[in-house]
Amino acid sequence: MDTPSDGTVAAERGSGTLTYALLAAVVVVSAIFAFSTNALPGHWYAVFKTVHVLFAVAWIGGGLLITILGLRAQRETDPGAVVTIARQAAFAGEKIFAPAGLVVFLMGIAMMINTNWGWGTFWVDAGLVGYAATFITGLAVLSPLAKKIEASAKQNGPEHPATIALIDRILLIARVDMALLLLVIVDMVTKPFS
Ligand code: HEM
Repeated sequence: MDTPSDGTVAAERGSGTLTYALLAAVVVVSAIFAFSTNALPGHWYAVFKTVHVLFAVAWIGGGLLITILGLRAQRETDPGAVVTIARQAAFAGEKIFAPAGLVVFLMGIAMMINTNWGWGTFWVDAGLVGYAATFITGLAVLSPLAKKIEASAKQNGPEHPATIALIDRILLIARVDMALLLLVIVDMVTKPFS
């Protein structure tokens, strides 16, 4: 079996250190910006909004990329690739998107408590409904479906009609979910009817 050389291990360690240093730099500069603003209702509001938007970017940007990669693999009729993407989507949905979505939601609530937008405002309620819809879809539909695809691919193979039908279904639902999330972003940015 191949074992990584000392040089490879050192390079990996160096790359990990650089990643953490970059992350720390982003956090420090974000904090300086947030505590130097007079354009928002308060400094903590600025922190909550920064976290809200950064996690929304990670969540929805990531979801969009996976949806596009899935559609591309589907168009190229490459069932093996689609199954791989479905597997990665299941991992990302559970380990990245669901926690990121929760942070977006909690930061939204934190901003609402620290300002006077009002809970009856259309764009806030639309955000709440959009979040609830995507949360339930992820938990009750997308996640179980991704596991079913994995099981069907193992049992019947990636090119079996049953596996392909499940993949078509998940990609369709993911597209609808993405469209909804993009609309929530537009709603948050434009704040219609207010
Ligand atoms: C799918 C979930 C959500 C996404 C993708 C999202 C996205 C965004 C984005 C991109 C902004 C920046 C808008 C701008 O500065 O022009 C924003 C702002 C904001 N969002 Fe959300 N949001 C979501 C859910 C929520 C929820 C559930 C709430 C409330 C409970 C909320 C409350 C707010 C507030 C108060 C602002 C700040 C508005 C401002 O200061 O201009 N968001 N959101």
